[in-house]
Amino acid sequence: MKVCVIGTGYVGLTTCCCLAELGHSVTGVDSNKEKIRKLKNYISPIYEPGIQELLKKNKKRLRFTTSIKEGVRKSDVIFIAVNTPPREDGSADMRYVEDVSKKIALSMNSYKVIVEKSTVPVETGKWIKRVMNLYNKKNIPFDVVSNPEFLREGRAIEDFLNPDRIVIGVETERARKIMEDIYKKIKAKKLFTNIETAELIKHASNSFLAMKISYINFISRICEKVGADVKDVSTGMGLDKRIGREFLDAGVGFGGSCFPKDVSAFIWIAKKCGFDFTLLKEVQKINIEQREIVIEKLKKSLWNLNGKKIGILGISFKPNTDDIREAPSIYIIKRLLEEGAKVSCYDPKAMENLKKVYSHTKIKYCKNVYEVGEDSEGIILLTEWDEFKKIDLKKLRKVMRVPVFIDGRNLFERRKMEELGFIYDGIGR
Ligand code: NAD
Ligand code: UGA
Repeated sequence: MKVCVIGTGYVGLTTCCCLAELGHSVTGVDSNKEKIRKLKNYISPIYEPGIQELLKKNKKRLRFTTSIKEGVRKSDVIFIAVNTPPREDGSADMRYVEDVSKKIALSMNSYKVIVEKSTVPVETGKWIKRVMNLYNKKNIPFDVVSNPEFLREGRAIEDFLNPDRIVIGVETERARKIMEDIYKKIKAKKLFTNIETAELIKHASNSFLAMKISYINFISRICEKVGADVKDVSTGMGLDKRIGREFLDAGVGFGGSCFPKDVSAFIWIAKKCGFDFTLLKEVQKINIEQREIVIEKLKKSLWNLNGKKIGILGISFKPNTDDIREAPSIYIIKRLLEEGAKVSCYDPKAMENLKKVYSHTKIKYCKNVYEVGEDSEGIILLTEWDEFKKIDLKKLRKVMRVPVFIDGRNLFERRKMEELGFIYDGIGR
């Protein structure tokens, strides 16, 4: 099929590459000229495992342009995968989706299926239809479909091609048939619903996962008071199939461009319906507190942080990505600088992105873990990269001035770390 994907970010570019891999002809569109310049040369503008290889492999079926008109005219199905960032008040900013919908309407030359891939508030489908009708002067027929994306950064391709389910909100048989054809080669369960239900499934799922994380993080606080081990609590809970072990890892809390924004947006959606979603407000509160807890732990060992050299291991909001949007590291570095600490940091992939946020002279950007450790009086680990699992801990201990180690992701075992001479603290154990 001929497909256009508008927005070539983490979701859009994955959609482009994976749909091409499934055999479709894909035109990727983005308003960011620099991204398109790279993509025209089949160079990925983001780090995502496997994406560079898929781009090169499917060259024949992948085209990129900055022109929505060109993309729309060439295609039968148009995916909207632009960003839906939070506004100051926490609601979703829908201006990019609206702008794209208007441009699609103005570019139409034949029947099109317009697919919401971005995460959007329920009833966005209705708005897209309204905008389309306002600008679709020649009354060319179209259908709107909601097809939320559930991929995770760092394993986006695997999640896209082997999902647990594909949710498709449709209103007509014609659109349903086309969407079935798009995903024909993917074996997963396809759930067809109405548009509003599909839209709601996405926000309900993300908020539920965020709730699981805040739940275990709160339990980790109780564990610390009573001498229990949160990792074992998670294992014990997770063995119950009704609960499941995933998303029960206690730590510095959830970050990323999705959970924080989608929980806020869902609270707003509920408010619009006349409900106060206090449960999700508590999820947010626990998550923010969790970041402050590591600072408190550091202070417990070091008293004042002013003038002290503190190392940060891990900047990205999770491993296997260079994405630092809403990463706990951003908040924690800000707090350390406020306390007067000198911050050194290292991340395998996210250093360049951090430099865009903090060109701060007080931050030292290091080449490896040991440079972070040199003369430091404390280290906080914030991302559980595989590289960190292989640290030569003896060597790290040796170069540190004071061996305080706060393990924000419970990557190491207390006993082993103490044997090596670290003053170690984890989360909830
Ligand atoms: P992103 O910021 O990485 O990419 C969005 C892209 O859209 C950018 O390249 C931007 O230049 C482009 N864009 C914005 N306005 C445009 C316009 N008018 N015309 C053409 N291009 C335009 O965002 P993302 O992380 O890929 O997320 C996109 C959507 O998918 C969001 O709604 C997000 O919530 C949702 N989502 C994200 C993930 C994830 O893991 N990142 C997973 C599932 C769903
Ligand atoms: C999340 C969802 O998992 C995807 O299904 C969804 O498509 C996506 O949001 C989205 O809508 O954009 P993502 O943000 O890429 O994916 O990453 P996750 O693996 O979910 O991790 C999110 C955050 O939660 C990370 O900061 C991670 O460290 C944290 N987390 C995760 C925990 O603190 N504990 C856990 O047990 C799991």
